[in-house]
Amino acid sequence: MQIIKRKLRSQIDERGELTFAEENIDIPFVTKRVYFLRNLKSDFERGFHAHKVLKQVIYCVSGSFMLLLDDGKESKTIELLAGETVFIDSVVWHVMSHFSKDCVIAVFASDFYKESDYIRDYTEYKNHLTKGL
Ligand code: TYD
Repeated sequence: MQIIKRKLRSQIDERGELTFAEENIDIPFVTKRVYFLRNLKSDFERGFHAHKVLKQVIYCVSGSFMLLLDDGKESKTIELLAGETVFIDSVVWHVMSHFSKDCVIAVFASDFYKESDYIRDYTEYKNHLTKGL
């Protein structure tokens, strides 16, 4: 599994840092939704699902966290630091954990929120992958 980890571009000057993301340059799809995660508790893990169709770019705005990505063949865990993005393709099981106290996450998503697009059970996820073969 190829993990596409990148930094968003920033304009830094004496006033601070301005970071931006543009369609087809930083985000490989048309963004229909952006959501944010903050006040995250370090002793909880989140995610434990895959999406049937949805594609996402997860952006660590500040702090850091760990991200597990599993495509059904292999599983990799990476650390995401402030300023970094990772592309999460559809049908990739993912888990977020080890949030630092100052961790803020923004997620760019290719579609509106649809519970029907979620696969929340790992066995069901594996079955879904087999069906697609
Ligand atoms: P969920 O995606 O399950 O978060 P996590 O995997 O981190 O636990 O979302 C948690 C809840 O928030 C779920 O009940 C649905 C709701 N939600 C929305 O209403 N809109 C959204 O855009 C998202 C991402 C979640």
